[in-house]
Amino acid sequence: MKNTFGNNLSVTIFGESHGSSIGVVMDGLSPGITVDDSVIKGMLSKRRPSGAISTSRAECDEYIIQSGVFNGKTTGTPLCITIPNRDTNSRDYAETRWIARPSHADYTANCKYHGFEDYRGGGHFSGRVTAGLVAAGAVVMPALEKLGIRIGTHIKSCAGISDRDFHDLQKDLDLLSTLDFAVLDGTVADEMKSRILEAKSNGDSVGGVLETVVTGLEAGLGEPWFDSIESLISHAVFSVPAVKGIEFGAGFSLAEMYGTEANDCFCIDNGTVQTVSNNSGGINGGISNGMPIIFKTAFRPTPTVSAPQNSVNFKEMQDTVLSMKGRHDPCIVHRARIVIDAVTALVVGDLLAGRYGDDWAFKGGR
Ligand SMILES: Cc1cc2nc3c(=O)[nH]c(=O)nc-3n(C[C@H](O)[C@H](O)[C@H](O)COP(=O)(O)O)c2cc1C
Repeated sequence: MKNTFGNNLSVTIFGESHGSSIGVVMDGLSPGITVDDSVIKGMLSKRRPSGAISTSRAECDEYIIQSGVFNGKTTGTPLCITIPNRDTNSRDYAETRWIARPSHADYTANCKYHGFEDYRGGGHFSGRVTAGLVAAGAVVMPALEKLGIRIGTHIKSCAGISDRDFHDLQKDLDLLSTLDFAVLDGTVADEMKSRILEAKSNGDSVGGVLETVVTGLEAGLGEPWFDSIESLISHAVFSVPAVKGIEFGAGFSLAEMYGTEANDCFCIDNGTVQTVSNNSGGINGGISNGMPIIFKTAFRPTPTVSAPQNSVNFKEMQDTVLSMKGRHDPCIVHRARIVIDAVTALVVGDLLAGRYGDDWAFKGGR
């Protein structure tokens, strides 16, 4: 029953949606990483609900660093961050304690924890717990940027509307050099917003697809089999609630191509080995090839909806109809962008720690 991820740089998350706080413990951080309050606050604010397209739960996310930082730098010992929960309202959940929200984790949590689970607000399964992951990612992200590694995620599609203005990163790699990462970190387009609001007014919810790019990663990181970069990123990304799919590079469409179309031909560019296309998403044999790592993540529509749906009361073993009250996100996609950035940063940190050891943030040197 462990809640820990990472081989060399590890994170353990803890907390429940309506408990006193949520948080994270990180181990394997190089000593001497600058911990930047403005980066942590900035990343946490991107995960926070934003107006009518999000839940009305208002958490200020005032985080507390409990250990592992001294004089603004990591000490190299476990770093613990707690984030108090301040805006909880558990009443709505008491009424539906034994009724399983379709596609949420109420029933599976009950099966696993034998009724001892904290069910309020989704408990440990709540999106609220991802605030800890974002805080952890914010500790690692500046260290990666110092090494020239950048991570950005944009909304590829939401509520069936695709980001038509956005370039096809698989087909046109040159775009990456001109891309402002602020674009990758842009806001939800108006059309997407109105679809989210339309679904909300019908008591419904919507999902979407995020696209993430990692640039500046050296070739040769990752393991050939179980700890391939695809496996590690998938492992971390599937830990984010509501993720139901991931594809690297051209992904499923590779299955319909000829080999000559699918292959990423090598070339020498400025004295470095590059590929002309990036259908492989920067990974060959589980190992980074020096090209940008590119992957897409599919998010389901938020399970909790106020429209009536068939369900069961699993205590009384009776069919019933559920119409949920309470505060919920009609869409998760825009809030999840920064969560995917954060878990990707943790994976990259873990890969570097595997290659360079304790001083990974300085590539083994000082
Ligand atoms: C940032 C974020 C916010 C979320 N908010 C909600 C929410 O308000 N209501 C809800 O039912 N699910 C929400 N979810 C998703 C559920 O936590 C998730 O669907 C549920 O735990 C079941 O897990 P699964 O979809 O991965 O199977 C959120 C997820 C994230 C990442």
